[in-house]
Amino acid sequence: MSDRSHVSARPASKTLLNLGNLPPKPDYFKSDEMFPRTASKIDPNNPPWPAYRGYHEYSFAHETMGKRLPTILGKAIEDVYKTLNQQSDEELIIDLLQCIERMQGLMQALQENQKLRPIVDDNEGDVTLWNKELARYFRGADFMNAPWLFAEAYKYRRLHECFSTSRNWKDYDVFFRQKCDTFGRSGNAVFELSTRFAVPQGSHTEMKEPDLDRQHKLFLELTQVSLWGNATDLSLLVNMTEEDIKKIQSTGGEHLASTEKNILGNHLNRLWALVSRMRGGRIDFVLDNAGFELYCDCVYADWLIQTGIAREVHFHGKRIPWFVSDVTRKDWSWLLNIMTYGALFPDASSKEVESLRTLGKRWKQYEKEGKWVYEQHPFWCSGYTFWELPAEAPDLFHYLCESNLVLFKGDLNHRKLTYDCQAPTSTPFEEAIGPMAKEQGAPPVASLRTIKSDVVVGVPLDVSERLDKEEPGWRISGKYAVVLLSEGSPGEPI
Ligand code: F6P
Ligand code: MG
Repeated sequence: MSDRSHVSARPASKTLLNLGNLPPKPDYFKSDEMFPRTASKIDPNNPPWPAYRGYHEYSFAHETMGKRLPTILGKAIEDVYKTLNQQSDEELIIDLLQCIERMQGLMQALQENQKLRPIVDDNEGDVTLWNKELARYFRGADFMNAPWLFAEAYKYRRLHECFSTSRNWKDYDVFFRQKCDTFGRSGNAVFELSTRFAVPQGSHTEMKEPDLDRQHKLFLELTQVSLWGNATDLSLLVNMTEEDIKKIQSTGGEHLASTEKNILGNHLNRLWALVSRMRGGRIDFVLDNAGFELYCDCVYADWLIQTGIAREVHFHGKRIPWFVSDVTRKDWSWLLNIMTYGALFPDASSKEVESLRTLGKRWKQYEKEGKWVYEQHPFWCSGYTFWELPAEAPDLFHYLCESNLVLFKGDLNHRKLTYDCQAPTSTPFEEAIGPMAKEQGAPPVASLRTIKSDVVVGVPLDVSERLDKEEPGWRISGKYAVVLLSEGSPGEPI
């Protein structure tokens, strides 16, 4: 990891000039200071504030493009060899070897920092989306000088191309093994939740004051379960005793305070104000990671259904293997089926196994009844940020406008919401997400994100400046988080 505390890794400090004799700045310019780049000049290569790019040594972009991506790709190649060693059919083996060769070509492209070439026409529906963006904004760009967000997404699309151009391995997921293994190692936290939530919870509609208060506390806790699920393990819950749980349920006090203090931009109560008014609404999750995080999201969504707050929940996953651990349809089905029929946790008690089966069955039933809907729009695996969602995927935007709340999970979704650029940390969330807040008919949008990369918004300057000084790695550690809400924009959708 690059040493961000080193003096050479810091961005240049500001030089203050005394410009007392120059003419005053007209108000027109002052009022625009939130956006250094005016809306008409924003494009994928020119975000509203300066982009992070691979050659920026002070940024996580540098570490990711230079080291993390080649490592991820190297592991992916190892995974394919494992699969290859289990094959007996010559045609399949030769076909898979060619996938490996293409992956090695991609590795070379990364290591030599080659130019970003068009995506090969592999008959996938997103080729035009990619090549149009490449031709318009990134002609001549390479892995290191294109904005980090685009270059990184492009790498995953190129990885998919290694398989989509094969005869027999079009849908191969190089990360599937890893995703399953990680869930299999989360047994403790998995049962912490399943044993508590296997018994259905009461409905929200006819609640009296004390129950509502309890619901409020439960909501805060469950939102945090889903939030910290993004940090991959749920040590928070695992270490809690029965006594601790009782304390939370009766007072909502200390435990919540101790985990909540790391939420640096905290709209949890605003979120509750919105959700508690909802009866039979529609809530959308733009999912992030498979396995344990998805499981936490489902526990949360289950509660939203049982309380009657939501009538239906839509889950948006990825169409292709994406950023290592993101949810695909296969991961979704795997989780629900393995919970219901699998034997993934040999050390679990029969009661624990039973609790997991109960949840699995209930969730599958929700799917059958249309209360839970899993879907995957190609836009989620494009190089575009969500600022371009209304223009580049109007069908998806229109569809999201029908939701009462769209919850975006995780770091990458947050980067895409905020254009992944060097906005001041104090930038209000509504400003940072641009059209997703302002476009006519935009739905309420919330971001539940543990902070794992440079961009940070909705956090007071004094907090970020103190952390920059005292904990130089705070933006990538996953120790801190934000829960930010934009209430949406009234009016008819576009
Ligand atoms: O590599 C980029 C990145 O977005 C990191 O910032 C983060 O560590 C990882 O990918 C994915 O995080 P998440 O699964 O929370 O989107
Ligand atoms: Mg992810």
